[in-house]
Amino acid sequence: MNEKTATGFSSLQETLVTHFKWFHSHPELGHHEWETTARIRDILADAGVEILDTGLKTGLVARIGNGGTVVALRCDIDALPIAEATGLDYASKNGCMHACGHDFHLTSMLGAAMLLKQRERQLTGAVKLIFQPAEEVANGAISVLASGALDDVAEIYGLHTTPGMPVSMIGVSPGAAYAAVGAFTIRIHGKGGHAAHPHECRDPIVALSQIIGAAQTIVSRRTNPFEPVALSFTHVEAGNTWNIIPEEAFAEGTIRAAGREQFNAIMRRLERICKGVQEICGVQIDFHCVLNAPAVHNDGELVEFVKQTAQELGLKTGPSAPTMGGEDFAFYQERIRGVFWNIGVASPEPAHNPRFIANPAALGTASALLSAIAEKSLKRLSSVE
Ligand code: NI
Repeated sequence: MNEKTATGFSSLQETLVTHFKWFHSHPELGHHEWETTARIRDILADAGVEILDTGLKTGLVARIGNGGTVVALRCDIDALPIAEATGLDYASKNGCMHACGHDFHLTSMLGAAMLLKQRERQLTGAVKLIFQPAEEVANGAISVLASGALDDVAEIYGLHTTPGMPVSMIGVSPGAAYAAVGAFTIRIHGKGGHAAHPHECRDPIVALSQIIGAAQTIVSRRTNPFEPVALSFTHVEAGNTWNIIPEEAFAEGTIRAAGREQFNAIMRRLERICKGVQEICGVQIDFHCVLNAPAVHNDGELVEFVKQTAQELGLKTGPSAPTMGGEDFAFYQERIRGVFWNIGVASPEPAHNPRFIANPAALGTASALLSAIAEKSLKRLSSVE
């Protein structure tokens, strides 16, 4: 790196840290990212970046470059309902917190926008920069896809901070990176009555306990031990006193699997258990289950491309640890080839913890890698055509 670029890099880094601290101290929940969106819009407009008219209420899509091939970079911009306890001088005080690093993601995308803008004439196509709303509520990606803004995109890349990795280290692996995630509810309508006369009732609590017990055999007996799956009941409700068998019982929980098919198989199995218990207990059971997000599945060839690009920038790379967490980036990958990669931010605590801290020292690196990935993928795609 010569002196001129070194100076340029450090001033970009300083600018990014200032922006990052502002975003960190102004977190907003999914679909309510009004101030965040306005600020992103201002910063991009100052840099002369075109903002597309997508109809999105929060979040936005910007565009840099020329006609022809289009690749996309994606970040998320929403925060979590967590009261911050980091003690940082730029900590949030509004009861919400960027405890998943989305402030880091969006700031590094702003940096990438500035770098790509400087190289706009050299680009062999166009880059769309997606500042996606509402990742934490798992439907922001759907609204971006519905806007049509990605219809012409050939490849898509996204990043996520990894708390447990050293600052600026890049983690990326082929295959499943985040799980297919969904939620289910079970509502049991029985017949209430006196606890002393159970034979005159249809006890929904006993029915529910049988469902919960039998559901444990789905993971232990019905799925391949080599395939990661999780099925958890997280909320149960029934009755309110000691001598009344209630009319109803309710439970909800989550299913996590390595892909849509595996998710559907577990969902169907749970539904069959509900039907069986309905039969043997003489109760009425309503079962509902929705897939919130499919699995993030990284394209093997493009993973190699990201790794190589990172190494050319002098960055250390390694595998990313797969997680049973969800990420709606998966919706883009169902339509567009892409890679979701990780960057180390050396947080003392894990994501979604009130003491999570993304080290801003990695911002410049994230921006440089995002912009290099976009520029190089355009070059590769346009040479193939
Ligand atoms: Ni996140």
